[in-house]
Amino acid sequence: MTDSTTTPAPAETKIETAAAATATGTNPRPSLSVTDNRTGKTYELPIKDGTIRSMDLRQMKASDEDFGLMAYDPAFLNTASCTSRITFIDGDKGILNYRGYPIDQLAEQSNFLEVAYLLMNGELPNKAQFEKFSHEVTYHTYVHENVKKFIEGFRHDAHPMGMLVSSTAGLSTFYPDAKDIFNEDNRRLQMTRILAKMPTLAAFAYRHSIGMPYVYPDNELSFTGNFLSMMFKISEIKYVPNKAIEKAFDVLFILHADHEQNCSTNAMRAVGSSHADPFSAVAAAAAALYGPLHGGANAEVLYMLEQIGSKANVPEFIKKVKGGDAGRLMGFGHRVYKNYDPRARIIKRMADEVFDVVGRNPLLDIALELERIALEDDYFVKRKLYPNVDFYSGLIYQALKFPVDMFTVLFAIGRSAGWVAQWEEMLLDKDQKIARPRQIYLGPERRDFIALNKR
Ligand code: CMC
Repeated sequence: MTDSTTTPAPAETKIETAAAATATGTNPRPSLSVTDNRTGKTYELPIKDGTIRSMDLRQMKASDEDFGLMAYDPAFLNTASCTSRITFIDGDKGILNYRGYPIDQLAEQSNFLEVAYLLMNGELPNKAQFEKFSHEVTYHTYVHENVKKFIEGFRHDAHPMGMLVSSTAGLSTFYPDAKDIFNEDNRRLQMTRILAKMPTLAAFAYRHSIGMPYVYPDNELSFTGNFLSMMFKISEIKYVPNKAIEKAFDVLFILHADHEQNCSTNAMRAVGSSHADPFSAVAAAAAALYGPLHGGANAEVLYMLEQIGSKANVPEFIKKVKGGDAGRLMGFGHRVYKNYDPRARIIKRMADEVFDVVGRNPLLDIALELERIALEDDYFVKRKLYPNVDFYSGLIYQALKFPVDMFTVLFAIGRSAGWVAQWEEMLLDKDQKIARPRQIYLGPERRDFIALNKR
């Protein structure tokens, strides 16, 4: 690629060459021609992977003192912040692939640890690699006894996401070696620790909130079976997870494992770009996930369904949403998907299997009615608002006796695989630097300070 930021060629010459080449169909290099009407100058910006480089705009100046043109894009609506080889989403077609593998195939045929390995390593593991990885994750599920004390310090009604955010940050104090992020072995060890300890922290936070003793990891169980044991074991010698429920949870972890540059992953990358240790970066990512527009939406959906109360109230509720009187329809809409979220489709199917075991969640009828009416309503159709991953997941969690406050924590356990994979990709990417956006300053001009007694 021509680096027009460092070696801008004379504009007119470039344009003529490009135009002539395009006319004869021989232009080997896609590019964008831009005329700056302030100066009349024309520039040719290379197009690579369907994007121009924002830095290529900087050469466009209205005068010699001008800083150069920037792009204004609050919330990254149309700005790629990185290249990535991990997750592919086609939002218009409703496609989601991890490392090229379609999400429905992984949900049906794989398991969460295998998917975590895939995200972190780029390929599915062979048998020996899988056994080694499973052993390592199992081996690291325990947390230092002081972490328990740390969690005990929270009030009885502390939100489990608050406990998770704090305890993941707290882990950085237990593993000061985690700062050595460019040592591959060390980095990989921390990634394994994060994946392995998230369920333990999550379950301890839950047990704390209900005043039950913490259950230590059972290394003979699967990743998901062990999590269920740490959550629900009471006095039995050995907790035996229900196979259908264990499988359902494993699938839910797979579906949440990564979703390219979402808000929490962006937080993970942004904090990681200052070369903070990965536990601190994961705490930031979990904090971003907590918000109701992101992972917190699964809890909001449940509150919304409970508030609607019955199928008969659905049309009135939809009317209020459209009129701006009931907030948003939670679990609907997505920045990237302008079609049915493929994860929601899988969860909706799976809900029936789970309800066969534990009984039907009565809120399902309200959810189905909401979906039916919304998908026929002009407001939602025009804006391409479809159910997202959070619309049906909460119904399953609730049927499995998870308190609503725990829903986002469950999201975090799955997503931790994506967070660490994306974090490492960012660290090894030569194009990346500390994340530091520009701003457009619209505040007051320089002015002199006035002493308090004169104001
Ligand atoms: N209910 C009603 N209207 C909506 C909704 C909704 N759930 N989502 C978007 N809209 C409307 C919005 O008001 C706007 O309308 P208008 O053009 O008239 O102003 C239009 O659709 C575009 O919305 P936007 O806010 O520009 O879209 P966005 O890409 O910034 O927001 C979103 C994406 C997910 C934050 C948003 O759809 C939303 O708030 N959904 C509800 C919360 C939710 O379910 N979040 C979970 C997302 S999936 C899990 C995850 O990855 O975190």
